[in-house]
Amino acid sequence: MLKKINKKITTVIGARPQFIKAAVVSREIARFKNLQEIIIHTGQHYDANMSDVFFRQMQISQPAYNLSVNNLSHGAMTGRMIEKVEEILLIEKPDIVLVYGDTNTTLSAALAAVKLHIKVAHVEAGMRSYDKKMPEEINRVLTDHISSIFFCSTKQAIKNLTKEGFTSAKNEIVLTGDVMYDASIFFSPYMQMPAFDIPDKFVLSTIHREENTSDCSKLTEIISALNALHKDIPVIMPVHPRTKKILQQYGCEILFTMFEPVGYLQMIGLLKKCSLVITDSGGLQKEAYFVETPCVTIREQTEWIELIDSGANILATSNKNDIIKKAKHMLKSKINFQRKLYGDGNAAFKIASFLSNV
Ligand code: UD1
Ligand code: UDP
Repeated sequence: MLKKINKKITTVIGARPQFIKAAVVSREIARFKNLQEIIIHTGQHYDANMSDVFFRQMQISQPAYNLSVNNLSHGAMTGRMIEKVEEILLIEKPDIVLVYGDTNTTLSAALAAVKLHIKVAHVEAGMRSYDKKMPEEINRVLTDHISSIFFCSTKQAIKNLTKEGFTSAKNEIVLTGDVMYDASIFFSPYMQMPAFDIPDKFVLSTIHREENTSDCSKLTEIISALNALHKDIPVIMPVHPRTKKILQQYGCEILFTMFEPVGYLQMIGLLKKCSLVITDSGGLQKEAYFVETPCVTIREQTEWIELIDSGANILATSNKNDIIKKAKHMLKSKINFQRKLYGDGNAAFKIASFLSNV
């Protein structure tokens, strides 16, 4: 059947979590015959195991454009992305630009679009940590301010937007649930384990956020906590390239098992098998909950506060003893994972359906 396309969506993605989120939304967009999607990859993440692996494993259409903007300071990266995204938007003339989350890719694409009077639709709108030291908080707050369609993962996100005065006739605020929950449900049957030996019981850890890695003393504390825990229960870490580079500079002693980033299917396998997650990742906190694994989050606050309220997630400072204490506590905790915190697994459908009809 011929498609009667009457709406062009340009999706702009560039960082690992965005590939995972876009995978489920793009699949749903393809099912709506009136929608055409063009994917722009800003190039923010570029290693094969930070980018290509997700396109392959999750069968995401190849981007129509790759801007190769990466490895730059915040200002330089954001500026170059705006310039290059704008060039493409002038050629493609989409009706809507779709952006995800809170990275430099998100804000740059939203800025390029809004200045051309193209509507911005923001997935994971309304999330807040209320900590402006975090680059992610700046990116998400500013992106919300220039968006007109807000796809919200949680009721809390809508509360935040309401409190900040976003509810007006010209803004569309939609409670969709979280697309990462959709991804976890859809890809779980295809989960894999990494090709190397994984212990029977272990702690899975990832650390990459700027606030934990750019400060040598904080990162050293975190690593020594993981080293100490490893004596009781094996700790394994697929290491983010940012963290790997910094650890090499500091010359930290690492006693636990570190390996290159893995694909999403291996990550689901590891998440399901581990006894505890210790992370500063936004996405991994939720994914731990989806597979009923407790989590310690090494951050001063989290935008996913319902995880804390449920008892499935606990915050730790970067202090070694605090991390060890919280990890031991969570390893023993009995947690109720029955509450559906992130929707019904149809967030991506709701997003595509809204885009089709708006
Ligand atoms: C970015 C996001 C962060 C998100 C994370 C997901 C911003 C401000 N930060 O942080 O919110 O949680 O992505 O993983 O957008 N590098 C490589 N290879 C790659 C990618 C990165 O070597 O494929 C190295 C480069 O040295 C680069 C550094 O990692 O300079 C940091 O990358 P960058 O994209 O600036 O920030 P992330 O820490 O990945
Ligand atoms: N992830 C992955 N392989 C890894 C580490 C993480 O596939 O080696 C996935 C993880 O399962 C989650 C996403 O990457 O879906 C989270 O991305 P990241 O932690 O880089 O960013 P954040 O969510 O903090 O923005």
